[in-house]
Amino acid sequence: MLTIDVLTLFPEAFSGFLGASILGLARQRGIIDVRLHNLRDFSADKHHKVDDRPFGGGPGMLICPEPVFRAVEWLESHGFQGRRILLTPAGRTFDQKFAQELSGEKRLLLLCGHYEGFDHRIVEGMKWEEVSVGDYVLSGGEPAAMAIVDAVTRLLPEALGDPDSPKDESFSDGKLEYPQYTRPREFRGMSVPEVLVGGNHAEIRKWREEESKRRTSSRRKSP
Ligand code: ADE
Repeated sequence: MLTIDVLTLFPEAFSGFLGASILGLARQRGIIDVRLHNLRDFSADKHHKVDDRPFGGGPGMLICPEPVFRAVEWLESHGFQGRRILLTPAGRTFDQKFAQELSGEKRLLLLCGHYEGFDHRIVEGMKWEEVSVGDYVLSGGEPAAMAIVDAVTRLLPEALGDPDSPKDESFSDGKLEYPQYTRPREFRGMSVPEVLVGGNHAEIRKWREEESKRRTSSRRKSP
């Protein structure tokens, strides 16, 4: 069982996501537990304020250190011990290898930012891994946290019906997945490639490998 604590200003943003599909089933089956915590509940301010203007000027608001420190201290006093991930576009990029690594953990904490970001003392004064889900800016860390929860959950043993399905997909070997087809064999003038219906498994494997290579080199920068 993997337990993921999520610190967010918008716990309600997770409700549909947590109930649906693979993730909903994984929660029902006790493969994963996602615990949502509202950062506002840890504010010491009487108006539950969690953000303020940046010193030195500039647009927007920053998450203050106090509620984050208090939240983490509360979680630790309730048994939390594990990797702490702070979601920010300035972090290291999340990828399949990182997802695999996280799927081996027992506890994770994900901190979602909002507004212009975090007071830097949050990363100076506490151990966080700063993680981004891609080179674009979201209006909050919630969709990024959802991407991580989803990518990690589907790698947990028994989360997917077919235990082989995560092995043969995009990124599992650093390459993008080949194109796939199902019935019908002819659809609006487009047909399934002959090799896939010919029954020659060595040829099929070769075709798939070549398609994977072609996709990867045309869609990704080479390392
Ligand atoms: N918060 C805003 N943008 C983000 C991104 N790309 N990744 C992670 N957290 C974010």
